[in-house]
Amino acid sequence: MTVSILKVARIGHPVVRTAAQPVPAAEIASPAFQRLVDDMVATMHEYEGVGLAAPQVHVSLRLAVIEVPASDERSIEAVPLTVLVNPVVTPVGEERLTAWEGCLSVPGLRGMVPRFARARLEARDRDGRPYIADASGFFARVIQHECDHLDGRVYLDRMDDLRTLSFLRELHRFGPDAHNEEGS
Ligand code: NI
Repeated sequence: MTVSILKVARIGHPVVRTAAQPVPAAEIASPAFQRLVDDMVATMHEYEGVGLAAPQVHVSLRLAVIEVPASDERSIEAVPLTVLVNPVVTPVGEERLTAWEGCLSVPGLRGMVPRFARARLEARDRDGRPYIADASGFFARVIQHECDHLDGRVYLDRMDDLRTLSFLRELHRFGPDAHNEEGS
């Protein structure tokens, strides 16, 4: 089976700022939906992202994929390929951590973003089976980033200090902790 690399929508395109619709349960098994999941995974890999939400590929559905490769050189933990259908993320506790984020819809930029340190994810997998994951660290961060996309939000909206917003090239040149950032 062939997969397609999908065009990524950037900020300014209305689909990035539109709240996405739930995936109807009856459609999860359809070839079209399964193809979309495969294409999103291929697109995420192509652009070396660690996450991708359907609105970022011009599909306004509550669907996202996440994968953090184990071979990653940064000091962040690996996350296996995870498909999030109709995800609900709930913060656990009050602790927040601030770290670099990037986004394929905001190319070339990174910013410091506060996120809840722990979060509970309730979603369905690509076969429609419900699952729950208690996430912490980078996984919790990526979940919150992707679920924001499904509500039409990007990480810029979550920044509390826009002065950290940096072009990647300058960040690599001047940023002391520039190793720990990724796009999604
Ligand atoms: Ni993003």
